[in-house]
Amino acid sequence: PTVAVLMGGPSAEREVSLSSGRECATALRDEGFKVIEVDAGPDLVARLAEIQPDVVFNALHGRWGEDGCVQGILEWLRIPYTHSGVLASALAMDKERTKQIYRSAGLPVAESVLASKSEVMASHVIAPPYVVKPYNEGSSVGVYLVEAGANTPPQLSDDMPDVLMVEAYVPGRELTTTVVGDRALCVTDILTDGWYDYDAKYVAGGSRHVVPADLPQEITDACLDYALRAHDALGCRGVSRTDFRWDEEKGLEGLILLETNTQPGMTPTSLSPEQAGVAGMSFGAFVRWMVEDASC
Ligand code: DAL
Ligand code: MG
Repeated sequence: PTVAVLMGGPSAEREVSLSSGRECATALRDEGFKVIEVDAGPDLVARLAEIQPDVVFNALHGRWGEDGCVQGILEWLRIPYTHSGVLASALAMDKERTKQIYRSAGLPVAESVLASKSEVMASHVIAPPYVVKPYNEGSSVGVYLVEAGANTPPQLSDDMPDVLMVEAYVPGRELTTTVVGDRALCVTDILTDGWYDYDAKYVAGGSRHVVPADLPQEITDACLDYALRAHDALGCRGVSRTDFRWDEEKGLEGLILLETNTQPGMTPTSLSPEQAGVAGMSFGAFVRWMVEDASC
């Protein structure tokens, strides 16, 4: 079968997606698929008409590729595609609506509000420490940490969007769990010198991953359970990855969900392929599973 791997695109995570896409394309070729790499631009529909793929492997991240837009095109064209459909993608890309769904599913989240850029820069919207981030981007693009005791509100760069999420900062550990179908794989504990920012995510050696994480059993069990419940509550399909913060001093009460990624990174430093490996699934087997699970 012919697989078109969609990558790149116009989002702030373009470079990450190009890296994910190349890794997946290489692995799919090794698995015996005919693979065509497509940088998703304005000619996307014409390209798909020309290629006539049996399956689209969606390796896009961020806006347009992870938020239901491209999924809508693929539904319209009746081409089976990997990962989540329109609604789950749109919900999960919106961090505020994701929280509403989490809450209604009984899943714990950190306190947050949406605020305009000018409100955020005028005064503290909530008591520090807190995090300011776009409500609809990934890979920590445009994430500001306002530390405890900070006197002044953050001065945001011009390219920050007008609507921002201001979220109470949860100290402690950064944990993540990938779901594949109906199975939560394992938990990774992400260790960084500072913040798990863009560079820590994508520069080799920028962070250290302990997988499976060395955690109290009740925390491991909760991450696995919450990741599956988040995947189901949002209506995700195929693979998703749910990110957590855990304030270990508070035990189970200190564990909160940050977000669910419907197009988890597939780069050489990404978390989900590593978890798949620990769960006994090679990178090739992982991408093959996604192609075989594709639908529209
Ligand atoms: N947004 C990046 C690709 C991730 O969650 O892995
Ligand atoms: Mg994300």
